[in-house]
Amino acid sequence: MDKQLHIVDSETCNGDGLCVDVCPNGAIEMVDEIAATMDDRAESCIVCGQCVAVCPTEALCLQAMPEEDFERLKRPSFGFEQFHEFLRTRRSVRLFKDKEVAREDIDKILLAAATAPMGFPPHTTEVVVIDEPDELKFLLEFLVNHYDGLIKSFSNPIGRAFIRLATGAEIYGELRDHVVEVATNANEDYRRDKTDRYMYGAPALMVFHASRWTTSYEENGHLVCHHAMLAALSLGLGTTIIGMIPPVVERSKELRARYGIPKDNRVLTSLILGHPKYRYRQGIRRDLAGVQFNCVEH
Ligand SMILES: Cc1cc2nc3c(=O)[nH]c(=O)nc-3n(C[C@H](O)[C@H](O)[C@H](O)COP(=O)(O)O)c2cc1C
Repeated sequence: MDKQLHIVDSETCNGDGLCVDVCPNGAIEMVDEIAATMDDRAESCIVCGQCVAVCPTEALCLQAMPEEDFERLKRPSFGFEQFHEFLRTRRSVRLFKDKEVAREDIDKILLAAATAPMGFPPHTTEVVVIDEPDELKFLLEFLVNHYDGLIKSFSNPIGRAFIRLATGAEIYGELRDHVVEVATNANEDYRRDKTDRYMYGAPALMVFHASRWTTSYEENGHLVCHHAMLAALSLGLGTTIIGMIPPVVERSKELRARYGIPKDNRVLTSLILGHPKYRYRQGIRRDLAGVQFNCVEH
């Protein structure tokens, strides 16, 4: 990939040096008061596009980023108070109206999700959107059957030892302390009257996956999911991140083939979406587990 910086028009470059200032890797310099790529730094460009984004005269373009990739920004019309208030309205929604999520809304959510940062551009996160009722039913049945297998293996010491060996102490502890119990109750409820305690009858599901060979692919996928969650909230939709789905899709050849997930991709997270049945009238005050400034020693 040629990352070379180009001066669109040396007449247009006003020589203010903003691009030089903003470049995180010192790849640009001023030559005769005109911006230019430093010969020995051309390869250090990470194609973040910040040089183009700050230029007030639109004098720059990057070969690796076509002009259409850039869009004019408006100043946000809200400040911290409104933003915090918006965040406080978010809860994990597990009860939905019997109403589909419009594809138009899905498109908006994906558009906003793509604004998430990534370890190194471009995005390597991919999303599978499932919004057909029959497909969601199929997946639910698959989840129930998969977790039946886990519950069965956990019910005997040999099965438990095998799982511990295969997964390691950390995941084994999570399975033992949380997942098996949740799945046992979920499967009991499903068998009783088809109650769905995996996806909560949501009309749409997004599954996020990415190539395991790309920089920070796990963090990137979670950030994309998180952006999607907030975008959905802005559209009046409710969401919940579902941790019970990714390991099942990850391990199943059948589901991978069904959803076109490449062998090299890891399934990272999933998000259910729908129109919330109820509006929350109370927010919850939460604090982080700890905050330390400039800790040297205790
Ligand atoms: C990584 C992760 C996995 C989660 N997995 C599930 C899940 O499988 N099922 C579920 O009902 N909720 C799941 N949740 C939602 C949490 O239970 C929820 O965020 C938490 O209870 C806090 O509540 P709130 O989101 O309403 O503030 C998950 C959340 C995260 C961040």
